[in-house]
Amino acid sequence: MKNNFVLIGFMGCGKSTIGNCLANKLKLSFIDTDKYIQNAQNKTINQIFDTLGEPYFRNLEKDLCTDISNYKNYVISTGGGIVINQDNVKNLKKNGLIIYLNASLNTIYKHLANDTTRPLLKNASFLSIKSLLDERQLIYVKSSDIIINVDNKQVDGIVKNIIEICL
Ligand code: S3P
Repeated sequence: MKNNFVLIGFMGCGKSTIGNCLANKLKLSFIDTDKYIQNAQNKTINQIFDTLGEPYFRNLEKDLCTDISNYKNYVISTGGGIVINQDNVKNLKKNGLIIYLNASLNTIYKHLANDTTRPLLKNASFLSIKSLLDERQLIYVKSSDIIINVDNKQVDGIVKNIIEICL
């Protein structure tokens, strides 16, 4: 039986905040893959990309997904690029229901304006975010079991929505 909830979606769609709140509501454990990797490496995501490179980061993500495939009763918030490697999706799906938090380009842009913590979006324009989102959108849809639209909704409402649909 699937007993994890895995949140996927583009940067800035609210995976960490929503995941944390969902875990509290359902009294499940919580892991945020980016935070886990940062703690394990004792470096920020920016520092990992700058000093060790993106492929190194993707390997850390891959190893973590292999470990997570054995977790039970977790809410798992993932980094926006985790779905690029479909082996990760396979591992996350083993015990997990994959929920795509679907945010529009406008919502994402609003959340990410002035953000400096995401190496792939440093000084990114509206159009460059659009181009990465366009590239990823189909992968998110294909990787997910459930799609939740998050535009113009409060965190509590989204969490309620997830619980209504999934339980
Ligand atoms: C990335 C998303 C980030 C983080 C890294 C790469 C991506 O996570 O993993 O900067 O490729 O989309 P968030 O989605 O939590 O911002």
